[in-house]
Amino acid sequence: MLGFFFTELKQFVIQELSESAWIEVLGKVGLGSKDSYMNGLYYPDEDMMRIVVGVSNMTGMSIDQVLKEYGTFVGKDLFTAYKPLIDPSWKTLDFIENVEETIHQVVRARNRKASPPKLVCNRLTDREIVIDYRSERKLCRVAQGIALGVANHYNEPIEIVEETCMHRGDSSCKIWVSLKKEGDVAPAPTSSPPQHEDEEDIWAEADPSGADNL
Ligand code: HEM
Repeated sequence: MLGFFFTELKQFVIQELSESAWIEVLGKVGLGSKDSYMNGLYYPDEDMMRIVVGVSNMTGMSIDQVLKEYGTFVGKDLFTAYKPLIDPSWKTLDFIENVEETIHQVVRARNRKASPPKLVCNRLTDREIVIDYRSERKLCRVAQGIALGVANHYNEPIEIVEETCMHRGDSSCKIWVSLKKEGDVAPAPTSSPPQHEDEEDIWAEADPSGADNL
């Protein structure tokens, strides 16, 4: 994965915990000598998985929670890191709707090593969109977090429901995003959001302590 996502992870851990916690996590997951991630370089996906599991073990947050909050952190920073790719007329759902064609495809074309996930978006109404997310990395929680980070940027509260999930054996993750109206209470999801806890998952393999808390 692109180094930008590692430097973001480092900043996220430092912001949420501390610089010493970052060093401690790297040590605990066997990456102690690797505190030199650079935005433009590529690093193994497995390293990211190890660090996320390490943060989860250190904080007691679930891996899903860490991924989602990390995604929210990344979502906020996309606006500075990738400003030229972002149309100033967009709001939250326009941004999400245009990511695949306007942004992820550009990223793929510019850098053959980059493999952003495939996002097929279906704009249901002006207030609702469904993201069909596919990636071998199965980082749907990061996608949800990014959507939240984008919504925070535009100051538009959103509701997210994951209707299908690759972690449950579905072929893709369908992530329903809607803009909340003022005074809205949480809508009834059309299906129960998946529980990741019982499922066999790539994350379990990344856990250096053997804990399987997904
Ligand atoms: C300015 C906007 C965006 C840019 C420039 C961008 C770019 C990228 C890049 C460069 C990667 C790393 C690919 C690699 O290392 O191989 C990536 C990964 C990812 N992107 Fe985007 N992205 C943007 C917006 C979004 C949005 C809005 C979502 C979802 C709502 C999203 C979901 C993801 C996820 C989940 C990953 C992690 C990798 C994976 O799932 O396989 N991105 N993106």
